[in-house]
Amino acid sequence: DIVSNFRAILDTIADGVIVIDEAGTMHWFNPAAERLFGYHRDEVMGRNVSLLMPEPDHSRHDGYLADYLRTGIKKIIGVGREVQGRRKDGSLFPMYLSIGEQRQGDQRLFVGIVHDLTRRKQAEAAQRRDH
Ligand code: HEM
Repeated sequence: DIVSNFRAILDTIADGVIVIDEAGTMHWFNPAAERLFGYHRDEVMGRNVSLLMPEPDHSRHDGYLADYLRTGIKKIIGVGREVQGRRKDGSLFPMYLSIGEQRQGDQRLFVGIVHDLTRRKQAEAAQRRDH
């Protein structure tokens, strides 16, 4: 059916797709997100998205969500931002984060798209060396 075809498409997307609820709890983690962060989806489902980032954001992310829910002021939603991701092995990588918002009745879900910037950064560094 249409929905299972859509799931298959989501599974082939090269960028990480992560869905969280208003509390930051993860409900969706596609195969590209598994590759990027080094976690199996079963390890992250039901855990807080702050698992995937270094300090100081790790400690502050619940506050970022609470601020947004209280004020409605969008800092990343609809704009995007370059941030640091943290893999399971503790290593960091540069990523471009885009966030979309979906209302489900009186609940809200947030869809995060994670694009790995490692190769772009390496290419930029190589270009700086060559000039
Ligand atoms: C807000 C960092 C992943 C959802 C923020 C802010 C930062 C941040 C710094 C606050 C921006 C500000 O106040 O200026 C990160 C980092 C991530 C990450 C380093 C690395 C993994 C995610 C993911 C989602 C998400 C995967 C959704 C699935 C949100 C939401 C807000 C927020 C909903 C508040 C709305 C907004 O500021 O527009 N995050 N985030 N974050 N983040 Fe994350």
